[in-house]
Amino acid sequence: MSMKLPFINNKQKKETQPSDLENTPDHVAIIMDGNGRWAKKRGLPRIAGHREGVRVVKDIVKTASNHNVQILTLYTFSTENWKRPKSEVDFIMKLPKEFLDVYLPELIENNVRLDTIGEVEALPKDTKKVIQYAKDKTKNNDGLLLNFALNYGSRFEIMQAIKQIMTDIDGSKLSVEAVDEEIFSKYLYTQGISDPDLLIRTSGEQRLSNFLLWQLAYTEFWFTDVLWPDFNEETFQQAIHEYQLRKRRYGGI
Ligand code: FPP
Repeated sequence: MSMKLPFINNKQKKETQPSDLENTPDHVAIIMDGNGRWAKKRGLPRIAGHREGVRVVKDIVKTASNHNVQILTLYTFSTENWKRPKSEVDFIMKLPKEFLDVYLPELIENNVRLDTIGEVEALPKDTKKVIQYAKDKTKNNDGLLLNFALNYGSRFEIMQAIKQIMTDIDGSKLSVEAVDEEIFSKYLYTQGISDPDLLIRTSGEQRLSNFLLWQLAYTEFWFTDVLWPDFNEETFQQAIHEYQLRKRRYGGI
């Protein structure tokens, strides 16, 4: 089944509706929470919520692109999610393939580039394979960057950065004096991409759950009670609109 994505690429959008696009966030990060509760409310197994969550990912990629978002980072699987029952973990691991088997052609057609942050190497072989294939196929696209956080944990990321910096200092590739915030950022998975402007978390929970602890230092947070499978264009627009009204001061006045 092929989905027709009627989305407009960022450049076209800029020219058509500039007034709606003032102060839109370049980078939106989302903690997609509430799949399990959504399913439970309907008497369905938790995996039904995850499957519905995939459909919403597809819709939100389109919506983000239409709202001039340049980078969309989605918390898909955390390093702590391995604690879930094996059957649920196995199911979630199949979702990238399910998503890409259906939607990769549309992502390509719409100039979306796919990338990941996290320890992708530790994922099952088939999951890695399909992700690598999609990364290769989309690597020259310069529209929306769709960034899946997969087997991602922020404390681990920071620890790894520290270890690598120490190794580089030890090997005289770096001096202690040279280490500053910019250099440190280059040792994170997110090297080369701007920090999120807006963080959205669904399902009423108000915590970071080990997501982008360094990168969210000056990010605007927006929480909603809406469960991820019910998240839609309208909810996304509401988040963007509220972001547009915020005054970001970065510690200044
Ligand atoms: C959190 O809800 C959701 C997850 C841990 C899995 C997220 C995965 C998706 C939304 C689909 C991934 C999509 C692609 C394209 C790979 P929860 O299970 O913690 O919900 P609960 O808090 O209500 O139990």
